[in-house]
Amino acid sequence: MSGPLILAVESSCDETAIAVVEGGRRIHTNVVASQVALHAPTGGIVPEVAARAHLRWIVPALDEAWDGAGIGWQDLDAVAVTHGPGLAGSLLVGINFAKALAWVHDKPLVGVNHLEGHVYAAWLLDPDEEEREEPPFPLVALVVSGGHTFLVEMLDHLTYRLLGQTVDDAAGEAFDKVGRLLGLGYPGGPAIQRAAEDAVRRDVRFPRAWLGDSYDFSFSGLKTAARKVVDAARAEAGLDPADPPDRLPAATVAELAWGFQDSVVDVLATKTIRAAQALGARSIVVGGGVAANAALRARLASDAGALGLPLIIPRPGLCTDNGAMIGAAGARRLLAGDLAGLDLDARPSLPLAARG
Ligand code: KG4
Ligand code: ZN
Repeated sequence: MSGPLILAVESSCDETAIAVVEGGRRIHTNVVASQVALHAPTGGIVPEVAARAHLRWIVPALDEAWDGAGIGWQDLDAVAVTHGPGLAGSLLVGINFAKALAWVHDKPLVGVNHLEGHVYAAWLLDPDEEEREEPPFPLVALVVSGGHTFLVEMLDHLTYRLLGQTVDDAAGEAFDKVGRLLGLGYPGGPAIQRAAEDAVRRDVRFPRAWLGDSYDFSFSGLKTAARKVVDAARAEAGLDPADPPDRLPAATVAELAWGFQDSVVDVLATKTIRAAQALGARSIVVGGGVAANAALRARLASDAGALGLPLIIPRPGLCTDNGAMIGAAGARRLLAGDLAGLDLDARPSLPLAARG
């Protein structure tokens, strides 16, 4: 493979990540230092704690990535870094680190939108993975993460038309909140998936917010519904309101986790497939932490397969935050001449697309 060799830095949320990616596709090395264990005791991310952890781990992450990459600084074409959206303090650590690297090694600097990274993860190839075709345009991309949930149409590289987005909680946020209600700990997404796999009864039905024909999403009602069902289940199990959430019987937790997940998956998959059909898309691309969800992957694979629509969902480790996806998007930005200066700043609310 040819094309630019990019060192990518990602620190927008709670993963300190460094990768080397060639030609916007081939991963040479991809190191992700997760802060999950650090944030588990508080049941969520404390921004200052996250930023301090990035400061501590970013140099060891680079050292590890560099050891695995087998390249020298002279081989690199650019340094790419996430400059938003995300937590301001966390973004600042990565941005300043990337600026310093670019400056001392005299390399161009590229600022990458984290959400564009989640989309471009679909282009990545693991070090030993066989070549495969790039996702053909026009395509519909679904991004489902802890902070964002939206559908965009792409007619070509780096162009996005917003089709719909969440009007309240992001899908990952809903997973995390309902995980907490069920006493499953942080992060809720993977925990709900695991609990749901044990469900014996699979007939619990949570509401679906279809919002008419729009491609928008809403998950806050689902959270309220989950709270009501959990309260009822607790009363039935004879639990005192003061008892901690993890006292619910495991079978009940599994059924409720299944019902909640089924509702989220149904809405995400139905709208994505409908958009792809309506717009005559030639492929569907899915990214973001929730795209690691096995039930969502299976449902989309079955629906897209029935229509003969190519579906590209990166392996789970490339759906959750990582540096390789920033290297993939960064290469496209570099080729488009979209360079950043040393005044690149954190953009905590940076959007990806406007409604067309
Ligand atoms: O993309 P990401 O790693 O970080 C953000 O940019 O937000 O997404 C994190 C979100 C969390 O809400 C987490 O619970 C969710 O992705 N998540 C999952 C799964 N793995 C991670 N949700 C459902 N099922 C999973 N297997
Ligand atoms: Zn993300």
